[in-house]
Amino acid sequence: MLQARAISKTYESAAGPVPVLENVELDLRLGDALSIMGPSGSGKSTLLHILGMLDPPTSGELHFDGVEPWTLKETEQARFRNSNIGFVFQDHCLLPQCTVIENVLTPTLIGERDENMTIRAKELIDRAGLTPRIDHFPAQLSGGEKQRVAIARALIRRPKLLLCDEPTGNLDEETAWQVLGLLADFQQEMQSILVIVTHSPAIASEFPQRFEMHGRHLRKKA
Ligand SMILES: Nc1ncnc2c1ncn2[C@@H]1O[C@H](COP(=O)(O)OP(=O)(O)OP(=O)(O)O)[C@@H](O)[C@H]1O
Ligand SMILES: [Mg+2]
Repeated sequence: MLQARAISKTYESAAGPVPVLENVELDLRLGDALSIMGPSGSGKSTLLHILGMLDPPTSGELHFDGVEPWTLKETEQARFRNSNIGFVFQDHCLLPQCTVIENVLTPTLIGERDENMTIRAKELIDRAGLTPRIDHFPAQLSGGEKQRVAIARALIRRPKLLLCDEPTGNLDEETAWQVLGLLADFQQEMQSILVIVTHSPAIASEFPQRFEMHGRHLRKKA
C-alpha cells in the first residue's frame, strides 16, 4: 500500500545543508498501526511531511497505492493528498473563525459538494463526544476537545493513511489516552494505516509496530 524506498532529506539553509533523513525504508499495509519515537530534531516531523506529500524528499521514492505522488501535477497531488491522507498535528491547527462542524468539513470543500459529508461530520463529532459543542469556535474549546475536532477533520474523507504528529503532546495524561483511544477505534474501523509520532514511551508501546528515528535512520524496534 505505502512504500518508502531510500528516502533521504537534506534541508538547504543559509548556514549550509542540513541532512536529516538517510535511506529511510518503510513498507506499510492497510490496517498497520505504528509509533515513531526519537529525540527532538531527529527528523520525525520531516518524515511525516514526506509520507503525507507535504514536502518532497531530496531523493528516494514513495509509492502510495500504486501511485508515485511526486510525479503528479500539483493540482492532482493536492486532490490525491486530500482524498487519501489525514493529518493530526500537535497544535490541532483548527481554523479559529470556523465552528466545530465547519472545521471538520474543511477537507470536503475541494471537489463536489456532498450532503453525505455533513451527515458523516455530525456522526464523527458525536463519536468524539462533541455534539454539544458543534457550533462552538475553537477558542471556546479545551485542548482535548480541539484535538478531537482535529481527529474528526482528519477522518472525514476516510483516508487510507492517517498521520499524527504528537497528537497528545499538549494534553494531560487522561485526556491523552482518551484522544488516543478515539484514534485507535477509528483506525480499526476504517483499516487505515495509522502512523503516530510521540515522545511518550507508554503511548509508543501500545502500538503493534514501533520505530525509532536515530542518526538520520529509521529503525524498527523489537
Ligand atoms: N525548513 C527547514 N530548513 C532547515 N532545517 C530544517 C527545516 N525544517 C527542519 N529542519 C531541521 O531538520 C531537523 C529535523 O527536524 P524535525 O522537525 O523533523 O524534527 P523532529 O524529530 O520532528 O523534532 P521534534 O521532536 O522537536 O518535533 C532539525 O534539526 C531541524 O532544525
Ligand atoms: Mg516534530
